[in-house]
Order: sequence, then C-alpha cells, then structure tokens
Amino acid sequence: MKTGQDLLTPTWLVFILSLCIYRSHQLVKPQVCKQCSGTVPKGSEVGKFCSSSSGRVVGRCCLANETSNHERIIGLDLSNCSLTHVDNLQEASDALIIDLSSNAIINMSDSAFQGFSQLRQLFLPADIACPGGNSSWDKVKTNEGIRLCEGQRNMCNQSGKMPVHCPEYSHCAAYGPGFFQCSCADDYHGYKCLREGEFPALWVFGLLGASTLVLSLLLWLTQRRKAKSL
Ligand SMILES: *[C@@H]1O[C@H](CO)[C@@H](O)[C@H](O)[C@H]1NC(C)=O
Ligand SMILES: *[C@@H]1O[C@H](CO)[C@@H](O)[C@H](O)[C@H]1NC(C)=O
Ligand SMILES: *[C@@H]1O[C@H](CO)[C@@H](O)[C@H](O)[C@H]1NC(C)=O
Ligand SMILES: *[C@@H]1O[C@H](CO)[C@@H](O)[C@H](O)[C@H]1NC(C)=O
Ligand SMILES: *[C@@H]1O[C@H](CO)[C@@H](O)[C@H](O)[C@H]1NC(C)=O
Repeated sequence: MKTGQDLLTPTWLVFILSLCIYRSHQLVKPQVCKQCSGTVPKGSEVGKFCSSSSGRVVGRCCLANETSNHERIIGLDLSNCSLTHVDNLQEASDALIIDLSSNAIINMSDSAFQGFSQLRQLFLPADIACPGGNSSWDKVKTNEGIRLCEGQRNMCNQSGKMPVHCPEYSHCAAYGPGFFQCSCADDYHGYKCLREGEFPALWVFGLLGASTLVLSLLLWLTQRRKAKSL
C-alpha cells in the first residue's frame, strides 16, 4: 500500500503541472492590446498586414495561431494612442509589424525592442530615431511625419561593420534591432559556456517523462482489470 502511494504522488503532481502548462497556453491576456481604446483600423498598415496573414484583430493587436492552442501577437498598432514613453511592449516581442506613429513620444530607449527579432516594419514619429540606429535596418524612410524602419538587419551577419564575437562553444543569434545573443552550443553551459555537460533541465524532463510513463502504466493496468471483469 505504501509503495503504491509513493508512486501515485508524483503522477498527480505531473498531472496538475501539465494542466497548469496547458491552461497558461490557452489563456492569452495581452495587456498591450488594451493600452488604448479602439481596434486596429482596417485600412492601416497593421490592418492590411493582419488581413493578408489571416490574423485576428483583438483591440490594438493582430493575433495569429502559432499552434492549435496558442496564439501570438504578430502585429501591434498603438498609433494615435497618446503615448509619451515606450516600454512594456515585451508581450509583443514576436510581432512582425509595429506602429507607434502619431504619438508625442519623448523618450524611447533601444532596450524597449530587445528580443524583437522578428520585427520587419516599425513606424515611429519622425523625430524618433530607429532603435539600434540606421545601421540596424535595411531602409529608413521619413514621410509625412512618420519614420519607417524597415528590414531588420541581423547583427550576427554584418559584413564589414564591427564584427560580432561570441565566446568559444557558443553561437550568435539575432535578438532585436542592434542586439544579438550568444547561446551556448549543445553540451556547454555556465559563464562563457565554459562548463561542459548536460544541462540539468534534461534530467528534470527525463524524470517527468518517467512519471508520465508510470501514470500511463497504472491507467493501462486498471483499465485492463476492468475489461477482464466485464
Ligand atoms: C485558430 O485556431 C482556432 C481553433 O483551432 C480556430 O477556430 C481559429 O479560426 C483559428 N484562427 C485563425 C486566425 O486561424
Ligand atoms: C486620433 O484620435 C483622435 C481622437 O482620439 C481623433 O480625433 C483623430 O482624428 C485621430 N487622428 C488620427 C490621425 O487618426
Ligand atoms: C530618456 O531615458 C533615459 C533612460 O531611460 C534617461 O537617462 C534620459 O534622461 C531620458 N531623457 C528624457 C528627455 O526624458
Ligand atoms: C537615419 O536616416 C534618416 C533617414 O534617411 C536620416 O534622416 C537620419 O539623419 C539618419 N540618422 C543618422 C544618425 O544617421
Ligand atoms: C548574411 O548576409 C547575407 C548578405 O546580406 C545573406 O545572403 C545571408 O543569408 C545572411 N545570413 C544569415 C544567416 O542571416
């Protein structure tokens, strides 16, 4: 009896944990879409992009299905939103297009777009510079009070300009305009990727996997017993 309970406790934990993970993926609560009233206008750049990529407009956002039960923000339109500062856009870090034009923005730091590696088009008030500077973008245009930063350049792949160096045993990945990230190669971790060996996460997932197996086995056994008694 004792051993049976010891086996059951981790399986229940796994079950509850899986349920929590599933729920957190189901509920999308993008605060950034409610930063100001109204929805993405149909005729706007974000609106046109959204309908051409069969997205769903929710407030100031355009959402698209990533997997069957997870949506992500692919477009954000905060134009004419009375914004003075740009921060807390992190929820939209997967966006391909962002419109911040027609706002009296006083201050915008480059770090506001750290991690926005998918961003291809950014509309800003004409007096605000493109994040990461002009050299982080393929094209910078200014027209009718709107600055367009278009075609984000990959910092890992800048021929001529200041070459990017990641430490040994790591590789470079784009991490938003003007940013890059060095990720450790397989089997390396820790400061400057100098520690060799598998990351503990693998071991943890291994353990979770084992508990799931036990759960499946238990279910199979109980169901089989039921089937036999019928
Ligand atoms: C996203 O997936 C749901 C459920 O599978 C579906 O009802 C919905 O139409 C999809 N939305 C888009 C924009 O593809
Ligand atoms: C901005 O919003 C105000 C009302 O909030 C509206 O009167 C004005 O026409 C809008 N401007 C643009 C360019 O959409
Ligand atoms: C802009 O922000 C930076 C850092 O967030 C700050 O140091 C600077 O004083 C700000 N400038 C203005 C004009 O608010
Ligand atoms: C960046 O490009 C824009 C548009 O071409 C230009 O107006 C601006 O002066 C440039 N900024 C810098 C720092 O070179
Ligand atoms: C690096 O840049 C060249 C030319 O700009 C491009 O053809 C190539 O695909 C880029 N590679 C990566 C990994 O971005």
